Parts: sequence; structure tokens; C-alpha cells
Amino acid sequence: MRAGILGSGLMGGKLGTIFARAGHEVVFSYARSEQKLKRLARDAKGKARAGTPREAAQEAEAVLLAVHWLRIEDVLNQTGDLSGKVIVTCSLPMNEDNTELVVAHISSGAEELAKRMPQARVVAAFQTVPSEVLFGVYEARRKARRPSLVYCGEESGKGVAAELIRDVGFDPVDAGPLRIARYTEPFALLVAQLAYEGEGGPELAYRFERFRG
Ligand SMILES: NC(=O)c1ccc[n+]([C@@H]2O[C@H](COP(=O)([O-])OP(=O)(O)OC[C@H]3O[C@@H](n4cnc5c(N)ncnc54)[C@H](OP(=O)(O)O)[C@@H]3O)[C@@H](O)[C@H]2O)c1
Repeated sequence: MRAGILGSGLMGGKLGTIFARAGHEVVFSYARSEQKLKRLARDAKGKARAGTPREAAQEAEAVLLAVHWLRIEDVLNQTGDLSGKVIVTCSLPMNEDNTELVVAHISSGAEELAKRMPQARVVAAFQTVPSEVLFGVYEARRKARRPSLVYCGEESGKGVAAELIRDVGFDPVDAGPLRIARYTEPFALLVAQLAYEGEGGPELAYRFERFRG
């Protein structure tokens, strides 16, 4: 599929690279230097190129939103109309110094985003794992026991999101409608706590298992 990357930093740069290696057509956009976008596209070694947010979004079947919460307005002002598009957001509604969620409990970043673009099909995914684990998960994708990745959102966008999640090497776990992001976003902070403050390093993913007697 064609995937447009809005925000080509730790998350967008790595996920876009993996999408390209998995065979998707990727446009990297929104970094502070065009050279960086070009380098990402070259190093991805697939069908990847650098572009503007508008170029990334308008041709895309899936748009990955991977910017800081405070940059969302700015990037969305550059994409043009996103009606009907599947927007996969990994963005968490963090304050400027990334210490607190600024939306939680009675709403979520993903729901606020959907209110801003009611005609788009917003799915929250990739919020709950650190960027440091993504290449490792991709490299281990042929192993039988894949890590889980929760996602939630607009029903009609979930097929596209689940395909991308699977292509990265995760086992997609459909957690329900977008309001479930009220639970997945704080869970992402738990995973970040374990990744960055726990022992063993940030290359951390998780797996849900059912045990039936
Ligand atoms: N990092 C993680 O492990 C992780 C995990 C889960 C969720 N998230 C969420 O995912 C989102 C992205 O996080 P990230 O860690 O990937 O952030 P990041 O590395 O800072 O990437 C953000 C991207 O936005 C670009 N950008 C920032 N200001 C800009 C400006 N004024 N003009 C143009 N481009 C600009 C950056 O450009 P440059 O490339 O030039 O810096 C970068 O490409 C955040 O909402 C975060 O909460 C992150």
C-alpha cells in the first residue's frame, strides 16, 4: 500500500523504513531538514521517497501521524484535506517536556485528533512500544511467538492498520473503538517507564496470552 509518514523522527523514521522494507510505497515527510528525509528514503532501500506533508498524505492509503502533540496542528495544516483517509496515530498527548499526558481519563489524544478531523478514519496504533524495539521486532517477524500490539479506532480503518502492524512483526490486538485509547495511552507510559527506567534497556515489547484450564 502507499503509506505517508508525517513526522520522520524516532517513530516515523523507523516505521517508514520498515514499511518500505516490507514492500510498501513510503513518502517520508515533516522533519527539520530535507536532507534527513532524503537520507531516510535512500537508506530504506525500498520504494521510498522524501516529500512534503501534502505529498505524503494525498496519495496515501495510510497516513502515519508521528509528531509531538504540540506539532500536530502545524503538520495537519500542511497536509490538505484528509477526509476518508486512514490516519494511524502513534502520537501521545504529552506536554512539552514529555513528563505528563495532557489529555487522559475522560478523553484521549486519539479522540481529540478524531474530533479535529471527523471525516478521517483515525486508528491509534504503535503508541505502546518504544521506537528502540521496532527493528528488533521486524527482524524477529518469522518467529512463532510474536509480541502483541494493541490498536483501537474507527472500524473501517482497522484492516489497513492491522496489515501494517503485522508487517512490522507484531500480533495485532484489536482493543475496540477509539475511546479505548483512554486506556492504551496511559499503558504506553507504563511501557515507556519499564523501557527507559527499568533494567534491561529500551528494546521492550509485550505479549498478551490467554490461559485456559
Ligand atoms: N519515541 C518513542 O519511542 C515513542 C513511542 C510511542 C509513541 N511516541 C509518540 O510518537 C510521536 C513521535 O515521537 P518521536 O519520538 O518519533 O518524536 P521525534 O523523534 O521528535 O520526531 C518528530 C518528528 O517531527 C519533526 N519536527 C519537529 N518539529 C518540527 C518542525 N518545527 N518542523 C518540521 N518538522 C518538525 C522532527 O524533525 P527532526 O527529524 O528534524 O527532529 C521529527 O522528524 C510523539 O507524539 C510521541 O509521544 C513516541
